[in-house]
Amino acid sequence: MARLVLCVLALLTAGVLSEPVRDNASQKAADPVFLQRQMDLMSLFFHIHEPNYFESCQTISKSWSLEKNIERYNNVTAVTTFIEMLEHQWELPRAVPFSILESEHRFEATTLYNVLYSAKDYDTFYKTAVYLRDRVNENLFVYVLSVVIATRPDTKGIYIPRLYEVFPSYFNNGEIMTTAQRINTHGFRMIDHYHSTYKWDENVVIRWNATIWPYYNSQSTPVAYFTHDYTLNTFYYNVHLSQPGWLNSEVLPVNRQRRGEWFWFFHKQLVARYYMERLSNGLGEIPELGHEIVKEGYNSGLLYHNGVPFPVRPNYFHLNQPQFVNTIQEINDYERRIRDAIDQGYLINNLGEHINLRAPEAIETLGRVIEVNVDSPNAQYYKDFITLWKKVLGNSLVQEHQYFHHFVPLVVPSVLEHYQTALRDPAFYMIWKRVLGLFQSWQEKLPQYKREELALPQVQIQKVDVDKLVTYFEYTYLNVSSHLHMNEEEAKEVYDQVSVLVQHPRLNHKRFQVRVNVNSEVAKSVLVKFFLAPKYDSHGSEIPLHLNTQNFMQLDEFVYDLPVGECVITRDSLDASGKDWASSFQVYETAEKALHGKGQLHTEQTNTMDKLANHLLLPKGRVGGMPYVLMVYISEYRAPKVPRNTASDLTFPLGLHPFIYHLTDESLGFPVNRPLYTWQVEGVKNLWFQDVLIHHKHTPEIEVPHQE
Ligand SMILES: *[C@@H]1O[C@H](CO)[C@@H](O)[C@H](O)[C@H]1NC(C)=O
Ligand SMILES: *[C@@H]1O[C@H](CO)[C@@H](O)[C@H](O)[C@H]1NC(C)=O
Ligand SMILES: *[C@@H]1O[C@H](CO)[C@@H](O)[C@H](O)[C@H]1NC(C)=O
Ligand SMILES: *[C@@H]1O[C@H](CO)[C@@H](O)[C@H](O)[C@H]1NC(C)=O
Repeated sequence: MARLVLCVLALLTAGVLSEPVRDNASQKAADPVFLQRQMDLMSLFFHIHEPNYFESCQTISKSWSLEKNIERYNNVTAVTTFIEMLEHQWELPRAVPFSILESEHRFEATTLYNVLYSAKDYDTFYKTAVYLRDRVNENLFVYVLSVVIATRPDTKGIYIPRLYEVFPSYFNNGEIMTTAQRINTHGFRMIDHYHSTYKWDENVVIRWNATIWPYYNSQSTPVAYFTHDYTLNTFYYNVHLSQPGWLNSEVLPVNRQRRGEWFWFFHKQLVARYYMERLSNGLGEIPELGHEIVKEGYNSGLLYHNGVPFPVRPNYFHLNQPQFVNTIQEINDYERRIRDAIDQGYLINNLGEHINLRAPEAIETLGRVIEVNVDSPNAQYYKDFITLWKKVLGNSLVQEHQYFHHFVPLVVPSVLEHYQTALRDPAFYMIWKRVLGLFQSWQEKLPQYKREELALPQVQIQKVDVDKLVTYFEYTYLNVSSHLHMNEEEAKEVYDQVSVLVQHPRLNHKRFQVRVNVNSEVAKSVLVKFFLAPKYDSHGSEIPLHLNTQNFMQLDEFVYDLPVGECVITRDSLDASGKDWASSFQVYETAEKALHGKGQLHTEQTNTMDKLANHLLLPKGRVGGMPYVLMVYISEYRAPKVPRNTASDLTFPLGLHPFIYHLTDESLGFPVNRPLYTWQVEGVKNLWFQDVLIHHKHTPEIEVPHQE
């Protein structure tokens, strides 16, 4: 029996593609052209706050001209606009915060995207990137360059350095980043002098220690190991990179047809996962937004590179402050328009025509409208209230706008306003609980699933058997060296003399298997899904199925060929240890060696992002075992309407492919994408609820705040 992988944040998401194809692709070795591109592009990300020290790059940077090469771009408008912006200094200056949610910043980002994307050949693209790297804001540059690499055909498969290595300051508080800079100067000297650091081989390690950094809000701390997990936050950012709302679906590298549905599903998964983590720590329900006071504050302790701290939301934050009146009014208006559309059963597009919402496929339109992405049928009317919520709750509105050259707004966005930090703040889940409420009210208006829709008559699940589920804490190490300031010697040789790692605690779990005993009267291909939900709410009451439907998080999805008769479907959770993503440094080193004929760079090494949050597959649970419900559902396999383009998804660089490609034509999250009542599933033999316990193993040697 194939031992497959209980995939990852596939957990937080969905779907896995058929394993053989993926395995073979992973083994492909990169050719010299790819290797050179890999190294060249990667080096643009390193020490991004400093000028590019590579001589070859400096030569390009000095000699390249956008004007003289204008015929080498498909989008001349974008290039001339950008030339003008540079001339008048209308671009965001370097070193200040960038926010894609700010319209002027977004204008610059999309124009830059159009310049880089429309370069007619790789050479032009690369030289333009080198030329602009030192001329535009580094935050904006990294963001846009990543999207371009993900979408250009000639950079497919290139490993994009993980954001936590490029900008560790989004993932480590001000104290850690200050310490890192100090070590960068001191090297191994003075280590004994500070108890937050120690030497490990040739590296200096900074301990993350909650007791020395007590500035976090006490209420949210127990789940900070989850909400602050740097891989989880980077993952959310990468998901956004793969389908930015401002990018036309034609050029999206993945998920073109179902971006709206995905927008809903992905956030449902995140909120469900977070809720289970709260329950594991004895925290209550996710608070409802909409009351006048938000009890939970948030102080990230993060600093922008120019030294400005991220905005803070104090505890007992009042929404009825005078400076919020207009924004709250707008939020109410925009939400009301969506709610009305759901109740009336139709949306109005920008020509005034009705778009029916009383059909399951309308999830796609509803998702596009609520995200307000470029494919929304009426972005003038259904506007972006999620961003407004983020501004209010992030408390960034209090900053008066300052302008650079009277034109470019200088902003201080809150953590909520960056995809790479949004998951840290408990308000993120409050906002999303509210948004998901809109989707739910739409789902409740669809007809309930009939038994015939749910059943697969010839297939019967007889038993589900799960290994003991155990979670524990462990340390993980984040290399921040390629961000730290270089001294003269380092800049000359372009290498880092000191290697600085930051030690973070994280949740992980022991490897386990799920075995499903099935009896089938026919041989057929089926789709198997696993879902996990809490059994009891925070008050200790068992959650009825029709309410729990919204809490089911899909852990896994795979196609299986059932034989006639009895069989056991065995799925294995990935053994997470030793399967972490390659670091940028490793990928760079491997590419360099391979280019000199030593070894090979396998695309597997560039694609390991899909293992992303495998360590977060299971919620923490409790020491004595905490009850959850594992739902196993088997349905007919239906091939997707739009076949996957295997050639392109196998090389998708952010490692999102295992779940972002849809295995089948089935709706995402089916059958828990509508409320499900017990009477509906009675006698449905291809669906099985199995009570499971998740145990947490004590690890007193790991410093991490949580509640047992
Ligand atoms: C993948 O590789 C295996 C053996 O390594 C082979 O049996 C199989 O046919 C290959 N599949 C494809 C789609 O190339
Ligand atoms: C060209 O760039 C401009 C400016 O960014 C943009 O408005 C336009 O849509 C782009 N055209 C194409 C075909 O991408
Ligand atoms: C961390 O990255 C630097 C390059 O920025 C490298 O020199 C060092 O060896 C890396 N450390 C580890 C443990 O990978
Ligand atoms: C954290 O800091 C406290 C106070 O300095 C110290 O007692 C404790 O041992 C530290 N914990 C770790 C894991 O370094």
